[in-house]
Amino acid sequence: MSAKKRIRIAFGLAAVGALTIGLAACSTGDSGGDGGDGGSDEITTVGFVAVGPEGAWREANEQNIQDTFTEEAGYDLKYAPATNLDQKSQIDAFTSFVDEGVDVILLSATEASGWEDSLKRAQEAEIPVILLDRGIEPDDDSLYVTRIAPDNVEVAKEVGTWAAATFPDGGNYVVLEGPAGVGVVNERNTGFDEGLGGSSLEKLDAQTANWSAEEGKSVFETMLKASNNDIQLVFAQNDEMGLGAAQAAEEAGLVVGEDVKIATIDGTKNAMQALADGQLSYVHEYNPLFGETALEVVEKALAGEDVESYIVVPSEAFDSAEAAQAVLADRKY
Ligand code: AHR
Repeated sequence: MSAKKRIRIAFGLAAVGALTIGLAACSTGDSGGDGGDGGSDEITTVGFVAVGPEGAWREANEQNIQDTFTEEAGYDLKYAPATNLDQKSQIDAFTSFVDEGVDVILLSATEASGWEDSLKRAQEAEIPVILLDRGIEPDDDSLYVTRIAPDNVEVAKEVGTWAAATFPDGGNYVVLEGPAGVGVVNERNTGFDEGLGGSSLEKLDAQTANWSAEEGKSVFETMLKASNNDIQLVFAQNDEMGLGAAQAAEEAGLVVGEDVKIATIDGTKNAMQALADGQLSYVHEYNPLFGETALEVVEKALAGEDVESYIVVPSEAFDSAEAAQAVLADRKY
């Protein structure tokens, strides 16, 4: 992630620098949008180049965006999910939005690289682009207004710090990664390694399980067989892969929490329930509910106001069954 200045949003509050962004109570949907240009009732057209079906996190994030940019709020949101996570379908949708002359484009990229030409076309057409969740590589932040996401490096660093503290005498660990080419995968590996610091934990293997519970289970089954079950920690880069690993551990006769610990990122309901039930050991939220923030940024961008190049969405860590139980009832995703 660019080392550029980032601002942290205080929940529900705060003015930061020249910019005031309140991350209202997540996904309240009662957006303050006023049609994007401060008071007139004209409709602002938003092209949303989205990922589409991918898992519980993605569903929550994209639904929150659609629930926020409503007609009542003064927006015409054109939702364009990728076809089978294919980047070409995203680039085609992006190009169509530029040709159509939408007012602003929201982009959640399936692949980190390959966006320069599209972003330059939008810039020539004076259409602001806001990155949601996923970054681009190389990270040329002159090509977009801002990126809105939790900080993957910091989130994963907290997972690594927890792992190092949990295994002071070391042990063997494996990583279940998201798909190759997705920017957050590299950011999470970087953060986890930073958090591990001088830990004597040994990495036995790292493989993609493509964000999927089914693949997380099959990949971890193979890893267990290859190591004769001698794995004490799994860092799963999202909840679904961690839940799949938990199934594999159970079928191998291992007890999660005793024989092996499983840490995941996202904080979706199923993972929080699994943490409460002892089937996961640590879950770091990667808060998907930033639609209100995205709407406020769109309004600032269309009003020509300054916006920081990275807007970090705060996300909490949950390291015990009790911590998960405390939030389960009110969980919004
Ligand atoms: O980019 C965010 C990641 O994409 C989430 O952690 C994962 O669940 C989603 O598929």
